[in-house]
Amino acid sequence: MDFLTLVKNRYSCRDYQPVGVEQEKMQYLLESVRFAPSAVNRQPWRFRIVASAQDKAKLQQCYNREWFKTAPLYIMASVLHDEEWVRADGKRHGDIDVAIAVEHLCLAATAQGLATCWVCNFDVALCRQLFGLPANEEPTVLIPLGYAADEPKQKVRKPVGEIVGPSDGQ
Ligand SMILES: Cc1cc2nc3c(=O)[nH]c(=O)nc-3n(C[C@H](O)[C@H](O)[C@H](O)COP(=O)(O)O)c2cc1C
Repeated sequence: MDFLTLVKNRYSCRDYQPVGVEQEKMQYLLESVRFAPSAVNRQPWRFRIVASAQDKAKLQQCYNREWFKTAPLYIMASVLHDEEWVRADGKRHGDIDVAIAVEHLCLAATAQGLATCWVCNFDVALCRQLFGLPANEEPTVLIPLGYAADEPKQKVRKPVGEIVGPSDGQ
């Protein structure tokens, strides 16, 4: 699959088949995450694989949607705030770094015939509490992962002319 086809094939899957993900595919995904770039190469992230029934139930409380419960497993991606690069003007870069790594994961999953969905609209405080996360670790994105049971919808995207430029001060 060429890169643009891969990018266009990734979509937000909101229904999963009740089957697990092969260990080799998990390794492929984690390797794709590991090689993501990050500011000053800090790699300020942690990826927790949430696969036990007990932990899945906890995460489902943090994002209480019926479709979310269909996923066979989740990946909780967190920023490690004590490791992220902070620019001289104070801008923290951990969120950017995690976002890049998460999209690597989503594209790698697509390449492996798997499906994902970015989820940020979850209860972070509850997540911290239920998983007993340390203060430096902020859960940022939840990714349900598995084989799709739904079909991609038509992509709605702004035209190139709307997102490029203006340049030269115009
Ligand atoms: C940063 C971010 C946060 C998102 N959070 C959620 C979410 O909490 N729940 C959800 O159902 N989809 C979420 N999405 C998925 C978007 O709705 C989706 O990517 C967008 O509508 C484009 O559709 P596509 O992914 O199928 O191309 C999120 C996507 C991104 C990039």
